[in-house]
Amino acid sequence: MVRLSRRTVMIGGAAVCAAAALGPARIRAQTATQPSLPIPAELRADARGTIVLKAQPGRMRFRAGPKTDTYGINGPYLGPAVRLRRGQKVVIEVSNRVPQGITMHWHGLIIPGAADGGPHQGIPPRKRWWAELSIDQPAATLWFHPHLYPTTAELVIKGLAGLMIIDDDEIEPLALPSQWGIDDIPLIIQDRRFTPEGQFFERFNIVAVTNGYVGDTVLVNGAHYPEARTARGWLRFRVLDGSNARSYTLSASDGRSLYIIASDGGLLEGPVELKQLLIHAGERFELLVDARDGRAFDLITLPVAQEIMRLPPFDRPLPIVRIRPEGADGKGRLPDSLATVPQLSNDLPAVSQQLIMNMFRDKEGMMALNKAGLMAMAKSVKPDPVVVARVVELIVDAPALSRSGQLSANGVNGKPFSLVEKVFTAPRDKLLRWRIGEGSDRMLHPVHIHGCQFRIVSQDGHPPEAQRAGWKDVAPVSAGGTTEILVRFPYSASLDAPYMAHCHILEHEDSGMMAQFTVT
Ligand code: C2O
Ligand code: CU
Ligand code: CU
Repeated sequence: MVRLSRRTVMIGGAAVCAAAALGPARIRAQTATQPSLPIPAELRADARGTIVLKAQPGRMRFRAGPKTDTYGINGPYLGPAVRLRRGQKVVIEVSNRVPQGITMHWHGLIIPGAADGGPHQGIPPRKRWWAELSIDQPAATLWFHPHLYPTTAELVIKGLAGLMIIDDDEIEPLALPSQWGIDDIPLIIQDRRFTPEGQFFERFNIVAVTNGYVGDTVLVNGAHYPEARTARGWLRFRVLDGSNARSYTLSASDGRSLYIIASDGGLLEGPVELKQLLIHAGERFELLVDARDGRAFDLITLPVAQEIMRLPPFDRPLPIVRIRPEGADGKGRLPDSLATVPQLSNDLPAVSQQLIMNMFRDKEGMMALNKAGLMAMAKSVKPDPVVVARVVELIVDAPALSRSGQLSANGVNGKPFSLVEKVFTAPRDKLLRWRIGEGSDRMLHPVHIHGCQFRIVSQDGHPPEAQRAGWKDVAPVSAGGTTEILVRFPYSASLDAPYMAHCHILEHEDSGMMAQFTVT
């Protein structure tokens, strides 16, 4: 049984407070062995146009104490960065060497349902599956992960996820930083919680189905607060929020600007200068940072609005990766304009599809957390350690739901996910306007749709923020709010391999907040 003692929690909390008060420099001095940022290996197709991905078990030491049992792709944890080019045809062979079923889904790739790797395309242990992919979309940072119902959350926690990068002829003349791992740096951000035995904590209880996974440690590319030695110059970060549920507000510790150049599906029209970038589960952003001064800084995350995401150590600025731009001069630059993103016309089609995210047990979940004092804690400047311990106890110790309890906890349009029922059919190659809403609960849902890259028309009646005005495959739907999108599906998907529309909080997805649909 997974159990964290109150003592562990308190000691953890105290250590973090002391560290934060001392500032990033002292944290570094204290942790004598700050790990280096692991850079996923780039993987391109071989001469025959094949890429092989092997899902396999591994063991990793993420922090002091016992090793953690993990899964990885071609390695012990996470996977390679698969590099593809627009116009390319590849076959990806996925070989399953882990002792449970998986699938492999190409998140953000515009491909037919048959190649999508969704819940219907299971790969049993010791079996292989082939996806034939024809790449025809702009340069972008995508990712891949299993999508088996209802074990996606578990498989991703164990480590099955990787980046998929598309290149094209349009992005090259921009001279963006593109030396992999030197000035073009992937950052896969995930939160985890460990058991006293050093294993990944994981439990489908009332807190998980309502709030999603709540970790207390941030891993970047599988390392806890690592340091990256980079070029001195403009740096490009390809950020994936690969967490099961958590949102982050990214910022630089010394206040330098983040220039957002790309969203989920590719380049923005021009760079968007921000001091803080909010990113939700499943989303990607590429950002440029001016590090020509060669000075070290931290990328940090600031507290976000959602109460449960403000539990320590997320109640204050938390450094997640140290950047030391001390290497040779980088060659990349920040262009003034980036790409042509089609303007949304004034005369939009009528809304043809509504999707409402439902949480059937929201009240029950919130009541338990409320009773533990979560709401008051989230408002206080200095969270009461007794309250924190009570909330953590709920997260860790609340009993796991039965399988049927889990599968009926959430839904879309009034019904939990069903592998056999299609919720709707969308016409192929037609511009469609969809309205995605949130039931009556108090959570933001990052809603993802397969088989497309879409545009956000409005969020709660307002135009999207500039950094979300380009190509997207995840749309934030705010608590009680509505997001409208404009979407086109160039390929078809039949009922034996349909597309999915779902919340990318993986615990929501695995407990019914997903709908399957066909395109004909
Ligand atoms: Cu990233 Cu349907 O998944
Ligand atoms: Cu997807
Ligand atoms: Cu959700």
